[in-house]
Amino acid sequence: MANFKTLDDLPQDLTGQVGLVRVDLNLPMQDGRASDVTRVEAVKPTILELADRGAKVLLLAHFGRPGGERHSTMSTSVVQGDLERVLGREVMFVSEVGGPVVRQSLGIFRPGDIGLLDNVRFWPGEEANDRAFAQTIAENADFYVNDAFSAAHRAHASTEALAHLLPAYAGRAMEAELRALDAALGNPERPVAAVVGGAKVSTKLDVLQHLVARVQHLVIGGGMANTFLAARGVAVGKSLCEHDLATTANRIMDEADHAGCTVHLPYDVVVAKEFAPNPPSLRTVNVHEVASDEMILDVGPQAVEALGDVLKTCRTLVWNGPLGAFETPPFDAATVALARTAAALTQDGSLTSVAGGGDTVAALAHADVTQDFTYISTAGGAFLEWMEGRELPGVAALMR
Ligand code: 3PG
Repeated sequence: MANFKTLDDLPQDLTGQVGLVRVDLNLPMQDGRASDVTRVEAVKPTILELADRGAKVLLLAHFGRPGGERHSTMSTSVVQGDLERVLGREVMFVSEVGGPVVRQSLGIFRPGDIGLLDNVRFWPGEEANDRAFAQTIAENADFYVNDAFSAAHRAHASTEALAHLLPAYAGRAMEAELRALDAALGNPERPVAAVVGGAKVSTKLDVLQHLVARVQHLVIGGGMANTFLAARGVAVGKSLCEHDLATTANRIMDEADHAGCTVHLPYDVVVAKEFAPNPPSLRTVNVHEVASDEMILDVGPQAVEALGDVLKTCRTLVWNGPLGAFETPPFDAATVALARTAAALTQDGSLTSVAGGGDTVAALAHADVTQDFTYISTAGGAFLEWMEGRELPGVAALMR
């Protein structure tokens, strides 16, 4: 793994120094409060460590997509209360990101004080990755810490340019994320299995293409599996299916074949005529017995058992996307069962399990295995781009 500096490379005593910390405070909101503060909990260790080492800590973040203009509803002050609650410290809001207002605020900060700068996307220079704009932020600080892996796929001033203008370090959350991802795909113990689920192949083509060359087992689930089954000539009835991607699906399966990667598609499935909780038309059938008016909504129990046996032969697992329509019972059964097998193998020490992206966190929380996987990333787009094998600008900028 390429080298990056961490908080261990900073002097132990940071009294009087100003640390600019890029965090991801793009929290889901409900009735004026964050409905999920996982991202704040993730950056808490970095913020408190720097504050306790005597730094004046300035938090830099985006919130929503204001497009380079101020919108009062998208001020980071909206999450100030959630931040204070999770950190258990007072946080001072500063309505700018650079210039004299920030300078004056820092003048009244004491060592260990924490400030929250306003939404960096209020300035067009942020998304333009404008160096002059980044310089106006950098000039008030002594060092830069990036603890926002989930924003690292953006080449923006706060994620990229700033890392070149100040001594740059990975925060504790970023450090853990990069090490976990390296253990999963960068430099994994083999055999490696990947579980890729979710609705559509079209959104994960690059992921699949990257994985077939790197993993020994590729488990395809969710609506995506229907597209692959249909491409192999299986009648999938009314199932969600991208029939126009049959050629692409076949090409991916050929590439997997050449690379020595076994593609696992379900051979039994759970079907129903209507998509509703516990519908009367529910059946578990062989994949070749799906009626023309039925939909495949989950992987069947026999296939899940076989997949569990595959995981038992593997040393590493990377998981993105649920196997079935997990929000609606009983179509959560396959995701829950396989997640629990993976969790048990991880706890036994035979499997390194890394998961992330979109619905995955919710699906694994539903299976009650969040604490038992080796690492679960809360990043959405950044996790997917990493699974596609793309260089993330915010990570590249930290590498020496
Ligand atoms: C996220 O919520 O996934 C990150 O904060 C990135 O947000 P963005 O997609 O608006 O860049």
